[in-house]
Amino acid sequence: LDNGLALSPPMGWLAWQRFRCNTDCENDPKHCISERLFMEMADLMVSEGYAKAGYNLISLDDCWLDKKRGPDGRLRPDPLRFPSGIRALSNYIHSRGLRFGIYEDYGNYTCAGYPGILNHMELDAQTFADWQVDYVKLDGCYSYPSQMDKGYPEFGYFLNRTERPMIYSCSWPFYQLINKMEPDYKTISNICHLWRNFEDIQDSWQSVTSIIDYYGDNQDTLIPLAGPGHWNDPDMLIIGNFGLSYEQSRAQMCMWAIMASPLLMSVDLRTIRPEFKAILQNSEIIAVNQDPLGVQGRRIYKKQGVEIWTKPVLPMNGKKFSWAVVVLNRRVDGTPSQVTAPLRDLGLDSEEGYHVRELNDHKDIGFLSKDQAIRVDVNPSGVVMLKCTIQRVPPFNP
Ligand code: DGJ
Repeated sequence: LDNGLALSPPMGWLAWQRFRCNTDCENDPKHCISERLFMEMADLMVSEGYAKAGYNLISLDDCWLDKKRGPDGRLRPDPLRFPSGIRALSNYIHSRGLRFGIYEDYGNYTCAGYPGILNHMELDAQTFADWQVDYVKLDGCYSYPSQMDKGYPEFGYFLNRTERPMIYSCSWPFYQLINKMEPDYKTISNICHLWRNFEDIQDSWQSVTSIIDYYGDNQDTLIPLAGPGHWNDPDMLIIGNFGLSYEQSRAQMCMWAIMASPLLMSVDLRTIRPEFKAILQNSEIIAVNQDPLGVQGRRIYKKQGVEIWTKPVLPMNGKKFSWAVVVLNRRVDGTPSQVTAPLRDLGLDSEEGYHVRELNDHKDIGFLSKDQAIRVDVNPSGVVMLKCTIQRVPPFNP
């Protein structure tokens, strides 16, 4: 949606992947979905440097609602787990300089069985505006995918009519795709700022690579949809949880960056290990993700377990771009793979050449002309990420 929001991929923290629908605050007060959890995460976003790195959103996911609407028909949170109410939580998050996100579902119920927005769209949009919500994730359980082409735009219309700017995250194409429908992506990208195309991420490398494959295999459809204000959403970052090794965590970060994906962490910021925090806060990789051109990267090579992805980024020299390059090694044979790629084969053909720098380890590799080749060692289930900054011709000054 072109309304000045989400000009670069949204960045923040989302509860679902790590905390799911844990409502048992009696036995598990530290991990249950409650105002306390979101307030603690908001504090850590700021004190641990995530906000400074660009992560500016804290968002609820499923299971924040009460089982029933209030007597006035309005949505209300579970009274035991959110005793201060949503407006107070929103205020708290705003007072930390962060944005506040909420979750609902287009259907009769959310996926976990809480009230959905169907038949209450206008009221719910207004309630979100009254609560000073900045971001709405609208799921699609318990609804008919064939009605989504009407329903998602309708809710978008009511959100806009509140005149509060809210980022609109849609699950619309995903539910249509699993029901064998072809999504009307032109309309979807006009209505939503981001949308899910593929299955939920799980805490495993297998899940991460299945998502990477989906985006690579469908790139000719998906790349043209992405740009400032409208993004494909391959789901949350699982870095810092249980399922990914250090190399695999670097790989998810670099792949999400080069795919111009929203960077939505879902991790316990109270217990995350420093090496995973450093991956999430790598400023050079984040800069590629947030690059103002907003182009989604492309898989240009895939053979024998090695993939190369490229994404044009600023600065430009005339009509030629700088480039981010990820070499992803999916081999598991124990030793790093040596990969040699002539710059020209990667599409880097500027006469002036490129300064090449590795972004995970912040190391300059040096200057390469278009006739030279990149040579890197890539660890098993790991990545090397390069930024190739185009050499500018100094202005002629007689
Ligand atoms: C399905 C969505 O895709 C997930 O991200 C999460 O929001 C769950 N529903 C919640 O029930």
